[in-house]
Amino acid sequence: MSVCCARPGYRPGPGRKPLPHAATVALAMMLAGCPAETDLHVDNNNDNKVVSFANDVQPILTATCAGCHSPGGGADRFGIALQLTADVSYGLLVNQPSVLGSELTLVVPGEAASSFLLEKVSSNPPSIGDRMPRFAPALSLAQIDLIRDWIKQGARDN
Ligand code: HEC
Repeated sequence: MSVCCARPGYRPGPGRKPLPHAATVALAMMLAGCPAETDLHVDNNNDNKVVSFANDVQPILTATCAGCHSPGGGADRFGIALQLTADVSYGLLVNQPSVLGSELTLVVPGEAASSFLLEKVSSNPPSIGDRMPRFAPALSLAQIDLIRDWIKQGARDN
């Protein structure tokens, strides 16, 4: 396991050496060239806010993704079926296979680390293709947290 996959949430058991101070871990990740968002397990907020797909997640998709992920857009022309416009995005994300990797699922309800959507916006680079949004700055950690929490809370159409 590379330092990129170190889990800050890990608590050492008896007899194990305690983890280095969080700042040391962050520094080690920087030195290793790993952006902090590479780790899908990091939850940056820890609050219990219920995330709404319509009110919290879809506005991110509409603002930063739907231009390409809609008929005639860059993703469509690339052969990616995933449209991220408000009317169709939910049904095309949840429990749907990825075009890029047939063994991958875009959103697995409750399982953020198994959801390719989260990997595509939080890993740079992801296991296949470019980090999304393509050719644009990454989503903020707060936006990534909303998507992660929505998936962890069951990826509901709420
Ligand atoms: C500039 C155009 C563009 C933008 C903006 C964009 N995408 Fe993409 N997206 C693509 C292209 C092209 C691909 C296929 C190539 C790749 O993955 O690098 C893709 C692939 C994907 C895939 C993989 C789909 C599959 O079936 O495997 C996901 C998931 C994805 N994008 C999500 C997003 C999200 C979420 C956003 C917004 C945060 C976004 N994209 C913004 C062009 C774009």
